[in-house]
Amino acid sequence: MTLRIAVLNGPNLNLLGQREPGIYGHRTLADIERMVRDEAARLEVGVSFSQTNHEGALIDAIQQLPGRAEGLVLNGGAYTHTSLAMRDALLAVRVPFVEVHLSNLFARERRRQKSLFADLAVGLVTGFGGEGYGLALRGLHSHLNAARSKG
Ligand code: DQA
Repeated sequence: MTLRIAVLNGPNLNLLGQREPGIYGHRTLADIERMVRDEAARLEVGVSFSQTNHEGALIDAIQQLPGRAEGLVLNGGAYTHTSLAMRDALLAVRVPFVEVHLSNLFARERRRQKSLFADLAVGLVTGFGGEGYGLALRGLHSHLNAARSKG
């Protein structure tokens, strides 16, 4: 069966391109979505791509993953640093995920250096701008394939 990967984006990522371009770059979320879809086609995985500014909608999306996707690429935006509720949802569904951030969290303010999700993740990609989504997709794809071949 073809692997399915959901890409979920949190608050303010709809403003990429205009939002603090010195930190987040000039690519829009639509540019990133195109790159992700191209990479998914190369890897022959199914992909869904979404963004919401609402914590509850992110939790709903995480809860709905089982049966819909085998893996998740997650940029939780600022909720990364605050949302115990999203952490609980990730713990509840146990769908393997890669955390991605455009900026390098560890080169930023102290409060952004802590992720409430990273220890649950397969891995973390941080600091490569929009490219990070393609890297995350590739890493997750090989992780899921390795897990699948182990049975
Ligand atoms: C971000 C980093 C977060 O600290 C910030 O709140 C964002 C974007 C990133 O992709 O670099 O909204 O997740």
